Amino acid sequence: MDTYSYHEFIFKRLLFTLITWLLLLLARSLSYNLQYPLCHQDERVALMQFKDSFLINNTTCKYKNMENREVASWRIEGNNTNCCAWDGVECNQVTGHVIALNLWSSCFYGSLTSNSSLFRLLHLQELTLVFNDFNHSQIPSEIGNLSSLTHLDLSYSWFSGPIPSEIQYLSKLSSLWIQSLDSYNLYTRSLTSLVQNLTNLELLDFSGVNISSTVPESLTNLSSLKYLDLSTCKLYGRFPTRIFQLPHLQELAVASNEDLTGYLPEFHTSSPLVYLALGDTNFSGNLPATIGNLNSLTAFAIGNCNFSGTIPNSFSNLTQLIMLNLSQNSFSELSWLPRASSSDILPQIQNLGLANLGLTKFPDILRNHSKLFNLDLAGNNLQGLIPKWMYNVSKESLQRFHLSNNYLIGFENSPAIIPWPKLDYLSLENNMMHGSLPIPPPSLRFYFVSNNSFTGRISPFICNMSSPRVLDLSYNYLSGTIHPCLGNLSQSLSVLQLRRNNFGSNIPKTWAKECSLKMIDLSQNQLQGHLPRSLANCMELEYLHVGRNQINDTYPFWLGTLQQLKILVLHSNGFYGSMRSSETNYTFPDLHIIDLSHNHFSGHLSARYFAQWDAMKSIGVNNLNYMGSEVSYSIIITIKGVELEFEKIQDGLTVIDFSCNRFEGDIPEKLGNLKGLHALNLSNNAFTGHIPSSFGNLKQLESLDLSQNKLFGKIPPELVQLNFLSIFNVSHNCLTGPIPHGQQFETFLNNSFKDNPGLCGWPLSKICGDSNSSTPPPSTFEENQGPIFFEFGWKVVVMGYGCGFIFGVAIGHIVTTRKQDWLIKIFGQKQRQTQIRVNHR
Ligand SMILES: *[C@@H]1O[C@H](CO)[C@@H](O)[C@H](O)[C@H]1NC(C)=O
Ligand SMILES: *[C@@H]1O[C@H](CO)[C@@H](O)[C@H](O)[C@H]1NC(C)=O
Ligand SMILES: *[C@@H]1O[C@H](CO)[C@@H](O)[C@H](O)[C@H]1NC(C)=O
Ligand SMILES: *[C@@H]1O[C@H](CO)[C@@H](O)[C@H](O)[C@H]1NC(C)=O
Ligand SMILES: *[C@@H]1O[C@H](CO)[C@@H](O)[C@H](O)[C@H]1NC(C)=O
Ligand SMILES: *[C@@H]1O[C@H](CO)[C@@H](O)[C@H](O)[C@H]1NC(C)=O
Ligand SMILES: *[C@@H]1O[C@H](CO)[C@@H](O)[C@H](O)[C@H]1NC(C)=O
Ligand SMILES: *[C@@H]1O[C@H](CO)[C@@H](O)[C@H](O)[C@H]1NC(C)=O
Ligand SMILES: *[C@@H]1O[C@H](CO)[C@@H](O)[C@H](O)[C@H]1NC(C)=O
Ligand SMILES: *[C@@H]1O[C@H](CO)[C@@H](O)[C@H](O)[C@H]1NC(C)=O
Ligand SMILES: *[C@@H]1O[C@H](CO)[C@@H](O)[C@H](O)[C@H]1NC(C)=O
Ligand SMILES: *[C@@H]1O[C@H](CO)[C@@H](O)[C@H](O)[C@H]1NC(C)=O
Repeated sequence: MDTYSYHEFIFKRLLFTLITWLLLLLARSLSYNLQYPLCHQDERVALMQFKDSFLINNTTCKYKNMENREVASWRIEGNNTNCCAWDGVECNQVTGHVIALNLWSSCFYGSLTSNSSLFRLLHLQELTLVFNDFNHSQIPSEIGNLSSLTHLDLSYSWFSGPIPSEIQYLSKLSSLWIQSLDSYNLYTRSLTSLVQNLTNLELLDFSGVNISSTVPESLTNLSSLKYLDLSTCKLYGRFPTRIFQLPHLQELAVASNEDLTGYLPEFHTSSPLVYLALGDTNFSGNLPATIGNLNSLTAFAIGNCNFSGTIPNSFSNLTQLIMLNLSQNSFSELSWLPRASSSDILPQIQNLGLANLGLTKFPDILRNHSKLFNLDLAGNNLQGLIPKWMYNVSKESLQRFHLSNNYLIGFENSPAIIPWPKLDYLSLENNMMHGSLPIPPPSLRFYFVSNNSFTGRISPFICNMSSPRVLDLSYNYLSGTIHPCLGNLSQSLSVLQLRRNNFGSNIPKTWAKECSLKMIDLSQNQLQGHLPRSLANCMELEYLHVGRNQINDTYPFWLGTLQQLKILVLHSNGFYGSMRSSETNYTFPDLHIIDLSHNHFSGHLSARYFAQWDAMKSIGVNNLNYMGSEVSYSIIITIKGVELEFEKIQDGLTVIDFSCNRFEGDIPEKLGNLKGLHALNLSNNAFTGHIPSSFGNLKQLESLDLSQNKLFGKIPPELVQLNFLSIFNVSHNCLTGPIPHGQQFETFLNNSFKDNPGLCGWPLSKICGDSNSSTPPPSTFEENQGPIFFEFGWKVVVMGYGCGFIFGVAIGHIVTTRKQDWLIKIFGQKQRQTQIRVNHR
């Protein structure tokens, strides 16, 4: 190469580089413009106003753990002002109009109003507001003005009220999602008129909306439907069978409509059905043999229906099934199950529900299955040992296994080690298992073994669980000390249930600094010593129950720093001393139920002490929330030797039980400030002085027991104002004067007042000097009315005498068979929803 050509070469090289670079730059800016057309000024303003009409921050964000949209980066000024480039916004490439708004999980909080600027975006074709919190506002009827909409998703966004009928004008809609989890706060006035003209609909999902009607026949006219979900909609009547035969219908879910009756039709090979969920309905009849024609079927869930007859052999044609739930039906014969033993039966099955079918042995169909993820065999008649061959069933995949409510006595090997290494959830409750507690694999997070006969100490290997959430060992005969490592597991544990075993010695000293326990129940054991102070590390604790042990300690005022503590039960132990705290920080702000009965507490009750029990001061809203998060809590009350268990505790319930101690002095007048109180028991103490007239403020009070004290003076007439009072006991005191008349007081009998030498008037036979007060009232109430009910639907029976409502708190059986069914269903559904969302978006 000579010099000239060398320079020329270099020059050309440079020129080439420069041009390439310029071209690249040009291309980039062009493509920038191509990607984001320039947005219209008015639409930008509308979007910004829309955004600004909501609170968007972490503290009010209901779905903050999801991947949130970056609406915060939207700008009217500065460098992100092209609204077509904003996160969640899409514009038409040519016209620049906003055509899609996808604000999935954007932390919006506030009302969507009818004058919202959203309704100025008239070119919108897709609108997704799923996973925001519109604070129970109504869906504005103006939504019907967005007439270009083809896709509308308002699911899980906390709208209330009617779904506006104006949606019927959105004639281009092809998908309409309004799923709700909000206990039927959303409803439709008429599903028929809402959808019958939406003839382009391919997807319709109103699950969780209160539809409260029959399923309109006109749905069969929506011939494009591919997907229909009307689960949990309070549907009733006869389900139109022709819906099964819609030519394009792939997925049909009408589960959890208990009054919906229906039958399965004959199926043809042309049917595209992929997913059928009919669980928790009143569907009945036989399973048609032609079900074998549904060769694309991946999910078939009919748990808790009323199907009968046999399971047709053609089921073996359903080779694509991933989920099958047959639980709780009235099949006369299950021969198909055991007979089918080869692995080409249900080769893909991952989720199998065979609960409550009367199975007497582990079905052979399970042999050789390697993909099971969830297996439900609860509520059958399985007996004896869990056979060894089961250990190899889906060894590498099984994560959830339900075996509760059977007659199993143990595992075929012993000492038992639970053999599925990936297991996450295991319920063995209500069996007859004995021997030592099976050692769970480290992966296990939910372990339920209550109501068996396990004995011996807990192996320290249980502490190999890497992040357990719920450990329920209650109602067994386990003994020894509670292994200290359980205190360390408290970092991940949320529920620790050791109720009614034989654990002795001291409670573990150390509870992790990051303790995340919400519920601890150590009741009915033989625990001794102190309550460890490190329990105060459990900042999320809601329930602490150590009743019926031999704990010897002073009043645990130091638990008062726990902001969430709602229930504290110490009854029947050796607690002693006075109920005091020197520090103002120990306030028990959320305490709802406190039971100190049957201890040796003494001294005066200081008014100052209750001053900060804020939860008891407010009259709880009568909502339908129940206490408990990971599991719902239930409560046990003993009356006349019978333990009654209530499955749920309403959030607002407040109770104080200080009975059977040695408290003395006056009953503080300030107790009358706890206006939310439902039950107060101070019986069997040594209180003196008067009954505070401030008790007349306790308008919610349903039970008041002051018996067996040394109270004197009159019964304050203010108590007559307590309209809910149904149990009243002041017997065995030194009260004097006339018994007040009126309202609830007409219903109390002798026993409420006896052994007060100075009391007179009805119902006592002693007549007062003052003739006015001795008029016997009309006797409209029968002697012994039987159980008394607290307000709000749930029953509580309270003892009329003796000490205490003997409280127990136990976790609800989240694995009653029915709910298991539900779990499977929801599980299946969730999986599908994600899948379908991906498919259809
Ligand atoms: C432009 O945006 C970037 C981040 O995207 C930001 O760091 C920068 O401060 C912005 N500049 C102006 C002028 O707003
Ligand atoms: C949400 O609704 C409640 C009750 O209607 C109201 O008090 C509150 O101000 C609302 N919050 C917002 C942000 O709109
Ligand atoms: C919408 O109407 C409400 C009253 O219904 C009003 O308070 C609010 O300011 C209005 N918002 C806009 C953007 O006009
Ligand atoms: C919506 O449409 C109705 C007529 O169907 C009209 O009266 C109303 O003004 C429209 N609202 C808006 C916000 O455009
Ligand atoms: C449905 O459409 C038909 C004709 O297009 C119309 O006559 C009827 O009123 C519409 N019904 C509803 C409920 O919108
Ligand atoms: C559902 O709607 C029906 C009829 O509109 C109503 O009677 C019922 O109370 C609603 N149910 C709930 C739980 O809101
Ligand atoms: C279905 O549509 C046809 C024609 O549009 C109509 O005649 C019929 O009444 C509709 N059926 C139902 C059940 O709405
Ligand atoms: C359930 O279906 C049966 C017929 O299979 C019917 O007799 C019964 O009334 C239905 N129950 C309800 C609640 O609809
Ligand atoms: C099962 O499938 C076979 C062929 O795959 C077919 O011949 C048979 O009819 C099917 N049985 C039923 C009951 O659908
Ligand atoms: C199941 O169906 C039978 C009649 O076939 C009926 O007597 C029974 O009540 C139904 N069970 C339920 C739970 O609906
Ligand atoms: C309780 O503890 C105190 C102080 O530690 C001790 O004096 C007393 O004997 C204990 N009582 C019982 C019954 O163990
Ligand atoms: C009381 O709480 C405050 C802040 O919540 C804290 O600064 C103070 O140290 C606490 N006092 C005691 C005695 O714990």
